[in-house]
Amino acid sequence: MASMALDFIRDGDIVGLGTGRAATAFVRALGQAVKAGLRVTAVSTSQVTAALATQLGIPLATLDEVSHIDVTFDGADEVDPRLDLIKGYGGALVREKIVAASSRRLIILVGAEKLVPVLGSRGILPVEIVPFGLPLCRRRLTELGCRPAVREHDGQPFVTDNGNYILDCSISPLSDPAAFEQAILGVPGVVGTGLFIGMADTVLVQDGDTVTVQQRRDP
Ligand code: A5P
Repeated sequence: MASMALDFIRDGDIVGLGTGRAATAFVRALGQAVKAGLRVTAVSTSQVTAALATQLGIPLATLDEVSHIDVTFDGADEVDPRLDLIKGYGGALVREKIVAASSRRLIILVGAEKLVPVLGSRGILPVEIVPFGLPLCRRRLTELGCRPAVREHDGQPFVTDNGNYILDCSISPLSDPAAFEQAILGVPGVVGTGLFIGMADTVLVQDGDTVTVQQRRDP
């Protein structure tokens, strides 16, 4: 699937690089293509992906060094039939959303197990918050019907590349994800949610040896 994704890149493109296992496989394939002569400039969604890209010889730029991003490749944790997403199990959701929103095209790489009938089916929505706002965010998100838990790493709160915390919110399948996101974004201290509504253009789905391509249909 990662090498198939390379077909969506043109020589000279500015390419957004996602975070997580699927994105890592893509970055490795891109590294081989660059070694073989493909010219790209990449913008990374995380420090870990940036480190890998550097190691593979992929030229990197920051968002303020590029005028636009042609195409971004990333993974996802849930994909619904409209190609709306939940992301952020890997903790990079805010930078992923900024890079996705800066891109002309967002291509998502997933295994078939990520396809869900309704967002929220896997039961978790990651929400990035400013640490100072933790008590308020926890209370307000509980009032919105979530059960928020601070994500931990080695017994300490997990800290994002932005210096923030992640609240993993237990949720039920969402009847109106866009309205739910707006309600969460209204809580002071919330930086972003893992809901990516109307952002993905194309989803490559790997099922065994088969890869299918799904395209967003405009509403
Ligand atoms: C990182 O913050 C996430 O949004 C990942 O893109 C998502 O969790 C998918 O990761 P995997 O490809 O590792 O399943």
